Amino acid sequence: MNLGLLDYCFGYFCVMLNFEIINPTRIVFGKDQLDRLPALLSEISPNKKVLLAYGGKSAERIGLLARIREKLSAFKLIEFGGIEANPEFSTLIKGVELAREKNVDVILAVGGGSVIDGVKFMTGAYFYEGDPWDVLLRKEGCIFENALPFGTILTLPATGSEANSGAVISRSELKEKRAMGGPLFFPKFSFLDPTVVASLPERQIANGIVDAFVHTLEQYVTYPTDNFLQERQAEAILSTLIEIGPKVLHDPSDYRAASNLMWCATNALNGNLRCGVPTDWATHMIGHELTAFYGIDHARTLAIIAPRLFENQFENKKQKLVQYGKRVWELDGNDDEVAKAAIEKTEQFFQLLEIPTHISDYTDPSPEIAKIIRERFEERGWTEMGERKAILLSDVESIVAAAI
Ligand code: NZQ
Ligand code: ZN
Repeated sequence: MNLGLLDYCFGYFCVMLNFEIINPTRIVFGKDQLDRLPALLSEISPNKKVLLAYGGKSAERIGLLARIREKLSAFKLIEFGGIEANPEFSTLIKGVELAREKNVDVILAVGGGSVIDGVKFMTGAYFYEGDPWDVLLRKEGCIFENALPFGTILTLPATGSEANSGAVISRSELKEKRAMGGPLFFPKFSFLDPTVVASLPERQIANGIVDAFVHTLEQYVTYPTDNFLQERQAEAILSTLIEIGPKVLHDPSDYRAASNLMWCATNALNGNLRCGVPTDWATHMIGHELTAFYGIDHARTLAIIAPRLFENQFENKKQKLVQYGKRVWELDGNDDEVAKAAIEKTEQFFQLLEIPTHISDYTDPSPEIAKIIRERFEERGWTEMGERKAILLSDVESIVAAAI
């Protein structure tokens, strides 16, 4: 790396970029912490009327809902279950109607990224008078201006949604998956108890590791910067996930490994890694389309796209791929060799976690899919993506075609 030698990297500043950060979410980390729940909820729920939102059967099955009901016996709980993976707009609208009818003053999300994201949407839609889908479409003038307060009890370490203000909402009848967010949508508090990992199926543990890994890569594999701290923090998360990922998969009740997975996942997307550095979220943007079209799990879409995107952007990202290869994977060789091997190591890591890395491993894709995604991006004006705005529509099409 030539940091200090030049102020520019291929015409891009290497200096630490200006940034502003606030993250108001209180994290309560560790086991046996639920005694804290009534006090934290009381702070944001003056009328003690709480919408308890969850997904399918898992939170009930692991006894978590029973424990929450017991702790919150002094509250009026209105339950809303059934928020599905990749939360559906139509389901969430029912939750909004229930919350309004019962006049709740807070929502408690119990689940993974899907339940938490769904709750974020519901808190904003609660006060919105028009069609909230317009907000997700980012129609001019359509924004959530107010939101109910909410807290979360995380059951799946993966997305970081428990400590950020973003959400992704699906509308399967339109094959759409759209993102929203903003300062209103930080949870007031989040309980992170690593013992929940013990109940997770292997598939979800592997998904969580890969989602956190790719969140980190997207804030790191760009171009070199003078923000040495953030770069090393990204490397620390990647190295930790490589170390503990296979251990958690092998033994999900290994608290030592599970607690590290949970904290890595939160730190990968709580806003810290992006401070002062460029980011490239194109893997996520393309990946969301694969979920929208084929229902492939979110993390798996990232494992499919990230290696192909790095190959497509090889020259632009080479310096960081080399840094990543040397520091995280301890590779030797000339720059081209190390950068190439770093991509191979990444893909092998996903495969080691039993996550296949091609679309055709999951479904029989339309030969037109690459073109269709390109056209969607064109309609949305997403014509120049990545840290250098160098991922053009033609690249999106090539990346998806190579991923088939
Ligand atoms: O529905 P239940 O029965 O709860 O089962 C869930 C679900 O089927 C199950 N599960 C969760 N905790 C469990 C458990 N099963 C057993 N034991 C437990 N303790 O796991 C399945 C998947 O859950 P889900 O919440 O969908 O997974 P994840 O946390 O990976 O969330 C994925 C969603 O988050 C979005 C994704 O696009 C996707 O819609 N993302 C949100 C982000 C954000 N808000 O910052 C960023 C991410 O990049 C991502 O886009
Ligand atoms: Zn993700």
